[in-house]
Amino acid sequence: MLTATYAVLFYLAAAVLVLGLVARAVRYARTPAPLRVPTTPAPTSRGGAAVRVAGEVALFTSLFRSNKWIWLFGWLFHVALLLVLLRHLRYFLEPIPQWVVWIQPFGVYAAYALAGALLALWARRLLIDRIRYISTASDHLALALLLAIGLTGLAIKHFQPTDIVAVKAFFLGLMRLDWQPLPADPLLLTHLALVAVLMAVFPFSKLLHAVGVLFSPSRNQPDNPRERRHVAPWAAALERDQR
Ligand code: HEM
Repeated sequence: MLTATYAVLFYLAAAVLVLGLVARAVRYARTPAPLRVPTTPAPTSRGGAAVRVAGEVALFTSLFRSNKWIWLFGWLFHVALLLVLLRHLRYFLEPIPQWVVWIQPFGVYAAYALAGALLALWARRLLIDRIRYISTASDHLALALLLAIGLTGLAIKHFQPTDIVAVKAFFLGLMRLDWQPLPADPLLLTHLALVAVLMAVFPFSKLLHAVGVLFSPSRNQPDNPRERRHVAPWAAALERDQR
């Protein structure tokens, strides 16, 4: 019963995550960008604009210019999250690639960095009057959810070890449509339920900035209005009709 409940939960969460992200990406891609609005100074070629977006994704360049503390903890959180998720690949890949084996210890250090950075970002929202005033319930909930996932993960590792071989068999079984029993450890079940909630709310929450940054016109447009006239598709259609 437990295995079936979690199996269905993860199929649903994965479907909501994938379909939700695709629907959002399509909507972003179709949203008209009628004017050239890159934040200057901006690259003048498309390749340059791609490098600029890559810089935003990897280094959070705009955030670095605007606020060094948020940049520090925000960047630390995201790099730590990436390492933690890469460490988790061992539950989903068989055989486990050598590089995944190699990063395992770094993934554990990253788990502490992740929790620490989240606490710092949350403290900022709670302790600075101006930021507390503009923080909404969804801001607090996103931080609480991520922190709860990180802390339950660390608690499994240090206080209530689970049968990770069985956890892996369960997730490989999900992907092969051959369900295997999931260990009934309360901390593991909490960790996994919170992960399923994160997957399901991701496309509808502010966490979607992960996709949105790629579609941001102020960052992904080259600054070339003099070299190339920018005509939005709907404006081009109007011009064609008038001829
Ligand atoms: C279906 C997806 C996931 C599964 C099956 C899973 C499973 C696990 C397991 C079994 C552990 C304990 C590892 C051990 O005892 O060595 C763990 C730890 C942890 N998990 Fe997850 N988890 C998942 C998703 C996530 C996500 C999305 C996050 C972050 C947002 C996360 C964050 C952590 C952290 C920080 C730890 C502690 C460090 C570590 O041992 O890796 N987990 N997870």
